[in-house]
Amino acid sequence: MASKLSPFLSFLLFSFLSARVLATIYEDPTRKTMEEFSGYPTETHSPFLSLSSSSLSVDMEGLQKQIDELSTFSDSPAPSVTRVLYSEKDVLARRYIKGLMDQVGLAVREDAVGNIFGRWDGSEIGLPAVATGSHIDAIPFSGKYDGVVGVLGALEAIKVLKRSGFQPRRPLEVIMFTSEEPTRFGISCLGSRLLAGSEVLANSLREAVDGQDISFFDAAKFAGYNIHPEDLPNVFLKNGSYFGFLELHIEQGPILEEEGVPIGIVSAIAAPASIKVEFEGNGGHAGAVLMPVRNDAGLAAAELALAVEKHVIESGSMDTVGTVGILELHPGAINSIPSKAHLEIDTRDIDEKRRNGVIEKIHQTAIKISTNRRVKLSEFKIINQDPPALSEKLIIDTIEIAAQQLNLGHKRMISRAYHDSLFMARISPIGMIFIPCYKGYSHKPEEYASMEDIANGVKVLALTLAKLSLA
Ligand code: GLV
Ligand code: MN
Ligand code: MN
Repeated sequence: MASKLSPFLSFLLFSFLSARVLATIYEDPTRKTMEEFSGYPTETHSPFLSLSSSSLSVDMEGLQKQIDELSTFSDSPAPSVTRVLYSEKDVLARRYIKGLMDQVGLAVREDAVGNIFGRWDGSEIGLPAVATGSHIDAIPFSGKYDGVVGVLGALEAIKVLKRSGFQPRRPLEVIMFTSEEPTRFGISCLGSRLLAGSEVLANSLREAVDGQDISFFDAAKFAGYNIHPEDLPNVFLKNGSYFGFLELHIEQGPILEEEGVPIGIVSAIAAPASIKVEFEGNGGHAGAVLMPVRNDAGLAAAELALAVEKHVIESGSMDTVGTVGILELHPGAINSIPSKAHLEIDTRDIDEKRRNGVIEKIHQTAIKISTNRRVKLSEFKIINQDPPALSEKLIIDTIEIAAQQLNLGHKRMISRAYHDSLFMARISPIGMIFIPCYKGYSHKPEEYASMEDIANGVKVLALTLAKLSLA
């Protein structure tokens, strides 16, 4: 009978039967955890078995073609990608993803802000789904793999399972999140933050405008989302809406490539924060105003930028980082003393308290600089100050077993980048699968992941989804 089944289905069946036999002589801690967690007996795998990589077939050519096609929806020339929330290119890319979801046979739905969901129903009615996904927006002049691997890779994982004849018990759902990147409205993970029920964000979006003074709601309307502030709470999902959430992503750091490890299993996501600062001075003529009487907002900003670096290094930990990614001077003329300076500061740590300590020091220094330089500190606004997130043991263990069964080396690691998983963790158990990327490059055009590495990630994702769906 098993010979008529695909290798993958045979594997799952064999795992199921073997687990019954082996249960008496081997106590599988993962299964025990699954049972405790889900309340269902789970006998879907055995640590004694290994599935050869070749029996889960990833359509590498097709997936690479999709990654390349998606990268053409960009507002900057190849190899860079720029795809900003609710821009024309974002709308085209969204259409592309919905089309693929449709082709894969998923039931597609979209919420008010354009989080896109593709669902494959499970055999048992009423169970919460196992979800997976990521984002497709891209910061200015970045690469084509960040986020994209977790959306197109998720769709390929569903296709792998469908080709194998697998039938999920819990539904499987692919999610494309709206605007993981903070590019347009200065707030990261906009879609997943809302899904996780952020009232703070829902309220602040009422006032939010982009660099061109276009409101969030006008921008959304341009993209076809005719929403009003009172619609935003409809996006919120209840805790427990998902049995689990998984995200496949490039590492965005060099460890996996340097160590030759194909799969990273994320145990925790570092705590990110971002701050907006404005200094104001009197400005004036660059030749006529003498140095002792100047109050140069630009120099105040420059001094604060260096202080960010200093305070981060003072933390004494390599895990504390800080970046001034935006520094704008007004009026921006060579012969005019800057009368306004605007900085945006990104700081992160795996230790939330230590990161908060750095933010406090940055604030105190900004106040001191404004006094010393006789400029006004007209804004010091903490945009977000998020706690870190931990992956769920059940999901970590399931990914680990999947990697083992696929004979893929793996290691546990923390994610220094943030991801939609950081917010999904507020309403669901989460886990993340990292794959190596070239020299750890990300957020720049040189970002690259080989199709072999992507395919390994897709296989681990597919097998993990299958296991969790049956759990
Ligand atoms: C995500 O894009 C991040 O900045 O970590
Ligand atoms: Mn990114
Ligand atoms: Mn990303």
